[in-house]
Amino acid sequence: MRHALITSCFTLIQAAPRACSTQMLSSIRVRAYAKINWTLDVLFRREDGYHELRTIYQTISLYDRLHISLTGSDIRVTCADPRVPTDESNIVCKAALLLREAADVRAGATIDIEKRIPVAGGLGGGSSNAAAALLGLIRLWGASVPEREMFSIAARLGSDVPFFLVGGTALGVGRGEEVYALSETRCENLLLANPGVEVSTAEAYGKLSRLTRPEAVRIIPFTLLAANGVCELPLAASNDLEEVVLAAHPEIAELKRGLLSLGARHALMSGSGATVYAVFDNLETSERAQFEMRATGVWSERVRTIDRREYRDTLIE
Ligand code: C5P
Repeated sequence: MRHALITSCFTLIQAAPRACSTQMLSSIRVRAYAKINWTLDVLFRREDGYHELRTIYQTISLYDRLHISLTGSDIRVTCADPRVPTDESNIVCKAALLLREAADVRAGATIDIEKRIPVAGGLGGGSSNAAAALLGLIRLWGASVPEREMFSIAARLGSDVPFFLVGGTALGVGRGEEVYALSETRCENLLLANPGVEVSTAEAYGKLSRLTRPEAVRIIPFTLLAANGVCELPLAASNDLEEVVLAAHPEIAELKRGLLSLGARHALMSGSGATVYAVFDNLETSERAQFEMRATGVWSERVRTIDRREYRDTLIE
């Protein structure tokens, strides 16, 4: 499997214990940041059933927190949110088991997930939790796994997971698992809104019928890359999954219209939804829009972009 030739935060995190101290940790807290997709182009359905993508990922300031402690030899996952399974179907549990095998480690861990990212909301919550578990456990177990293998484990866990080993603004190609760091796009006044419906990613892709761009396999979103790092990028973005998901969930379309009428310069569904993000010009309008959204019972959170440096520096608390 190809993987990005970048310095992932994994490299830095794995190197850190040796560089810092010899002290053994017994617990660790890791932030699992959410992402949005500035843009999501779906090119065609591949023979393996996945869809070939061109997407620009962005980490944002909303995060779940993983509390990981060394406890016996079992892998245990706990979460106060009843929508999150705590058995072996949890992606965090799968991540821990794959890492333990790859690193030839005997230790176990208890991983408690403090959930704030909406579940099945298009913000990469599960994927981010999995990557955070890999990064936290590498540190806690003092394990050593080659970077290439770490990316391969991440890709086995889910198409978005490798991105969370990188963070910041990044291009995702293939099924989204091949990640290339881009220069950073900064946006201070983003508002997330979620109508409280869960959208299945597989169903969203399954509904796509107009996939007319197989010839575009080599195309990357040039307009967006040309706009690299400038504030116009968020405003030029589009999402090929939006049409089918909005048709199935009119409440998401209504939310998008609501955000635009509250002064957003741009509003777009993230990933396979149901969360919509909106770009505002200033703090005041975004605060007012958040107030209005919450007044109608809609989950809404003001966020900003997190660049790669901040991502790496704040991931492990
Ligand atoms: O990779 P991940 O587990 O996140 O994907 C969930 C589902 O979304 C896949 O089983 C597939 O149905 C769909 N998907 C896709 N093409 C992609 C990514 C996901 O069809 N590039």
